[in-house]
Amino acid sequence: MTKEEIEQLLQKIEDLKAQKLQDVEDIRVKFLGKKGEITKMFEEFRSVLPEQKKEFGQKLNLLKTKAAERIEVLRQGFENVQIAGCEKFDFTKPGDKFELGTRHPISLAREEILDIFGKFGYAVAEGPEIEDDWHVFTALNFPPDHPARDMQDTFFINPDSNDPILLRTHTSSVQVRTMERMPLPIRVVCPGRVFRNEAISARAHCIFHQVEGLYIDKNVSFADLKQAILLFVREMFGPDTQIRMRPSYFPFTEPSTEVDISCNICGGKGCNICKGTGWLEIMGAGMVDPNVLEASHIDSTKYTGFAFGMGIERIAMLKWQVNDLRHYFENDVRFLREFQSVI
Ligand code: DAH
Repeated sequence: MTKEEIEQLLQKIEDLKAQKLQDVEDIRVKFLGKKGEITKMFEEFRSVLPEQKKEFGQKLNLLKTKAAERIEVLRQGFENVQIAGCEKFDFTKPGDKFELGTRHPISLAREEILDIFGKFGYAVAEGPEIEDDWHVFTALNFPPDHPARDMQDTFFINPDSNDPILLRTHTSSVQVRTMERMPLPIRVVCPGRVFRNEAISARAHCIFHQVEGLYIDKNVSFADLKQAILLFVREMFGPDTQIRMRPSYFPFTEPSTEVDISCNICGGKGCNICKGTGWLEIMGAGMVDPNVLEASHIDSTKYTGFAFGMGIERIAMLKWQVNDLRHYFENDVRFLREFQSVI
């Protein structure tokens, strides 16, 4: 027996591992049993020279104590497992599968739209879903007899009141709230849920989502609007996307336009998605009507601005070729799983 042998054995003991309770008992026998390695060393101790007895004795006692401690630690490990009632637990069994959640395509599209405009310096503004007539219609230059003010189109919460409260029909209401609140210049995108009294079909729903955009500053021009939309659609639908603007009418913008993008499915050649035209409508836009600026106390002789509004469902439909609006609301996991790879 040498000092090195004792040291080596000490190291070996520190590293001992057991897979099951029986292993602990085997270890005890191997080292501390009647014919165990440590027991044998104690027998050899008798023939150690008297002047070395003290040193060897201390080392052997340490070895024995450490071995007993290590064995106890290993034993306790199994006792804990038994207490927890899982002594029959099969650690080699493959784990239970669990479903990985996915983000809803509307959330994905909304985040992407906001990210793109975020890069252009647009802040995000939000407003209430339950609104008053002023913010949804009057301040946006809707004439008193406009059909959108009709119950056929708008959900009124208090239909008989002279002070109508309603579910907003568009996020343009947040434009008004932003103009009332924020210092100029303003550059915001306003995402949110909107409500319209419409029959549910593949192309229409009574609840959907929009993102409104608003930019007001000195000398903002229609060219700025065109450029902002072009940059946006190229980020969203790919660098080769073209835009086309058709004259249109909205009470809150003058001039107004409807914006189309070149069909991202057929590349503009004409297919059944773009109905053979090569173009897909994606948003309404225009220069903010001076009446709208003045209604929110912005001097329309000094400031101009542009606004645009798009349906998130529509953007997501075009981007991922979803052919029925109802898929977004039915939460069929087979549909939602399709977007796992988009995240
Ligand atoms: N609010 C319009 C709608 O819901 C969309 C829209 C069109 C918003 C033109 C705008 C705009 O800001 O300039 O159909």
